[in-house]
Amino acid sequence: MDGCGSRNRCDVGSRGGSLVLLLMVMVVVAAAVVPAGGQAPDGVVIAQADLQGLQAIRQALVDQREFLRGWNGTGLDACSGAWGGVKCVRGKVIAIQLPFKGLAGALSDKVGQLTALRKLSLHDNALGGQLPASLGFLRELRGVYLFNNRFSGAVPPQLGSCALLQTLDLSGNFLSGTIPASLAGATRIIRLNLAYNNLNGAVPSTLASLPFLESLSLNNNNLSGEMPTAIGNFRMLHYLSLSNNLISGSIPDGIGNFSKLQSLDLSDNLLSGSLPVSLFNLTSLVELKLDGNDIGGHIPESIGGLKNLTRLSLRRNVLDGEIPATVGNLSALLLLDVSENNLTGGIPQSLSGLTNLTSFNVSYNNLSGPVPVVLASKFNSSSFAGNIQLCGFNGSAICTSISSPVTVSSPPPPLSERRTRKLNKRELVFAVGGICLLFLLLFCCVFLFWTKDKKESESLKKGTMDAATGKAAGKPGGGGSGGSAGGDGGGRLVHFEGGISFTADDLLCATAEILGKSTYGTVYKATMENGSYVAVKRLREKIAKNQKEFEAEVNALGKLRHRNLLALRAYYLGPKGEKLLVFDFMNKGSLASFLHARAPDSPVNWPTRMNIAVGLARGLHHLHGEANIVHGNLTSRNILLDEGNNAKIDDSGLSRLMTAAANSNVIAAAGVLGYRAPELSKQKKANTKTDIYSLGMILLELLTGKSPGDTTNGLDLPQWVASVVEEEWTNEVFDLELMKDAATSSETGEELVKTLKLAMHCVDPSPAARPEAQQVLTQLEQIKPTVAVSASSSFTSEPSHTTATATTVTDDTKSTITE
Ligand SMILES: *[C@@H]1O[C@H](CO)[C@@H](O)[C@H](O)[C@H]1NC(C)=O
Ligand SMILES: *[C@@H]1O[C@H](CO)[C@@H](O)[C@H](O)[C@H]1NC(C)=O
Ligand SMILES: *[C@@H]1O[C@H](CO)[C@@H](O)[C@H](O)[C@H]1NC(C)=O
Ligand SMILES: *[C@@H]1O[C@H](CO)[C@@H](O)[C@H](O)[C@H]1NC(C)=O
Ligand SMILES: *[C@@H]1O[C@H](CO)[C@@H](O)[C@H](O)[C@H]1NC(C)=O
Ligand SMILES: *[C@@H]1O[C@H](CO)[C@@H](O)[C@H](O)[C@H]1NC(C)=O
Ligand SMILES: *[C@@H]1O[C@H](CO)[C@@H](O)[C@H](O)[C@H]1NC(C)=O
Ligand SMILES: *[C@@H]1O[C@H](CO)[C@@H](O)[C@H](O)[C@H]1NC(C)=O
Ligand SMILES: *[C@@H]1O[C@H](CO)[C@@H](O)[C@H](O)[C@H]1NC(C)=O
Repeated sequence: MDGCGSRNRCDVGSRGGSLVLLLMVMVVVAAAVVPAGGQAPDGVVIAQADLQGLQAIRQALVDQREFLRGWNGTGLDACSGAWGGVKCVRGKVIAIQLPFKGLAGALSDKVGQLTALRKLSLHDNALGGQLPASLGFLRELRGVYLFNNRFSGAVPPQLGSCALLQTLDLSGNFLSGTIPASLAGATRIIRLNLAYNNLNGAVPSTLASLPFLESLSLNNNNLSGEMPTAIGNFRMLHYLSLSNNLISGSIPDGIGNFSKLQSLDLSDNLLSGSLPVSLFNLTSLVELKLDGNDIGGHIPESIGGLKNLTRLSLRRNVLDGEIPATVGNLSALLLLDVSENNLTGGIPQSLSGLTNLTSFNVSYNNLSGPVPVVLASKFNSSSFAGNIQLCGFNGSAICTSISSPVTVSSPPPPLSERRTRKLNKRELVFAVGGICLLFLLLFCCVFLFWTKDKKESESLKKGTMDAATGKAAGKPGGGGSGGSAGGDGGGRLVHFEGGISFTADDLLCATAEILGKSTYGTVYKATMENGSYVAVKRLREKIAKNQKEFEAEVNALGKLRHRNLLALRAYYLGPKGEKLLVFDFMNKGSLASFLHARAPDSPVNWPTRMNIAVGLARGLHHLHGEANIVHGNLTSRNILLDEGNNAKIDDSGLSRLMTAAANSNVIAAAGVLGYRAPELSKQKKANTKTDIYSLGMILLELLTGKSPGDTTNGLDLPQWVASVVEEEWTNEVFDLELMKDAATSSETGEELVKTLKLAMHCVDPSPAARPEAQQVLTQLEQIKPTVAVSASSSFTSEPSHTTATATTVTDDTKSTITE
């Protein structure tokens, strides 16, 4: 993290009490900087050298979007806010922050004149040319964020002279040459990211002497040679990625000294040799990726000691021997991939105990014997294929009584043959139900034919759902469980489990009120005949997948049930391809309006916010862990609240209904709102880690009361928080209301700080450093046990009818329980 002592003036005004703190910060910062421009008060006259530096920088930039049009005139006002993105203390420039401004051109080497510069942030622009060597003159420099530009040439070795440098992120450029060994001179470096460049040569062994290094990303370059063997000082390292390089040799034994390592990614290199025993001393490991190498030998039994491991990928190596039974001790595992190796023996029975496993792959080995029943029922043949002696999984030979396959060559039965097996009980119920429905349908068609004229004339008098769609009619829904479908040949209504029952006609004749518009379409509040409400989303035309794919996906989404996910109750397909999705209606609206658009004297206290945070983490964990769905568009606008202020995540999985083009539009739109993870500017596809970033932004929103779209001093929300935290005035970031809560309870203060740390972890610029939804949930529950306990005591699967939600408030006098 990096920061500057700057504060938003407006902020200070509204905070009153923090004005004193602000002045103290300014004095502290100013004391460290010798004013070169005489006795000028802060922000009025700029030092001559700094002014020249800025003017040279301006000259070398190409300002396509005219963001710098204020950078003109004499420049004497450059420090008073007229020059956007420039921050000064006592006439000396301490920060330049112009990320995402469409800037092209080059970075002038006159930047070296800004001798008080602490932070240089020009990431996500189109800057090219060489990185100026003069950066090495900047002895106050703490943060250099030049990632996602077009810089070429070498990494300046002079950067090693920046003794206070903490973050150096030059990733996503076209830098070439070797990594200078002299970088190790910047001994305070915490985070070093040179990923996604064209760097070659070996990883300098000097880097291992950086005592504070926590995160080292050198992935996606052309680095070669062996991993440094003289390592042993990486005692703080949490994250190491060297993936997608040409690194050869074996993994050094010294790796066992990186005792804090949580994520190790060496995938897609040319590593050979065997797995060093010391690797399995790294008990903090959460993620271990070694796929795409040439690593042989056995998987040692000691792997069972990596208790925190959630992802283990050894895919595409030449490992032999058996899968040790101790892998079954890795109870946190979500992903296990040992496919495309040369493993023999059976799949250990102990793997059945890995209840959290959502992704499993042992395909293309030389495994034999029966697949444990639990695994065979949870994973399909794609997880086991290419092991001709393996039996007992879907599509394989049946295991004989002595647990060996019948015949190696018997192909799986053809599809039609398998279809003729006996119907199970559930299918029978559906079949009978289907026949009944058919009769009902016939009846309805006749009935509707008679009543249609009347209804149509009525619907014209008010705003109705069918004003927005084609005409259609239906029949009573299945109500209770299972799905049901119906229509008059034009439209089709399909119900899912739960919710109120209604017909297509009821739906289309309902009075509708527009609640809002989103990327996916328009949302209506529909009032049904019996006075109840549903939320109806009408999907915009041409953004949904074709009907067949759409129906397959929507039927899967209709099964998604969790108390923190807004339940999809039905969908309707109109005769002209119109698509309506029906959800439970949430009277309280969105978290965004709850936080930002409320009456002045209606504070939202800490327990309420925490309850929302925990619910949100639960919902997301279910989505990622159980349903295997990436949300892709998590914002406070699509977190809805029920009567008990419990979070319901909206739009879950909707991206699955849309075409790829529509989804990249959503990603673009989310960026405007500030919830978009930085890596999405390069990759177009959302994933669980980009969701976690969005979750982190919502946590920050809950803590600070600020919207991620708001910028403070040109800093976005995470940057602003980081800059304030850096100066150790952490309390200043919190919503004033929360500080009142904290004033009456020291525990609250501690909880706020812990939650803030967690949120900052979630918005870490490096995706791999972000936690999983499950870890966020666990930590939130640990931070605030009271809420966690009360919320879980109310667990039921069917929120709309039976949930008794409880919000426990710290001072025992107020304990609101709804329903
Ligand atoms: C500087 O730019 C601003 C905004 O374009 C303009 O209003 C102002 O007149 C310019 N000043 C000078 C001295 O060119
Ligand atoms: C790994 O741990 C074992 C004991 O658990 C210890 O004897 C050994 O020295 C450790 N190896 C390394 C490289 O730290
Ligand atoms: C494993 O994870 C837990 C929970 O995150 C943590 O408390 C513990 O310290 C971790 N264990 C190791 C060895 O890092
Ligand atoms: C690890 O797994 C092995 C084999 O399944 C078992 O015998 C052993 O007791 C387990 N050890 C621990 C610490 O759970
Ligand atoms: C498995 O997942 C559940 C929640 O889905 C969690 O409570 C549990 O701690 C996880 N188990 C391990 C060993 O991480
Ligand atoms: C796999 O093992 C077999 C038998 O041990 C050996 O012949 C073969 O070369 C191995 N394959 C690879 C890719 O190492
Ligand atoms: C597969 O394993 C069997 C023993 O289980 C061995 O006889 C055979 O050579 C192996 N085949 C390959 C291709 O590795
Ligand atoms: C098997 O499951 C995976 C997801 O786990 C899915 O992507 C794949 O299409 C499935 N394959 C088959 C043959 O069903
Ligand atoms: C398993 O791995 C094989 C080969 O690496 C791959 O083709 C297949 O899609 C994977 N299946 C699953 C379910 O991950």
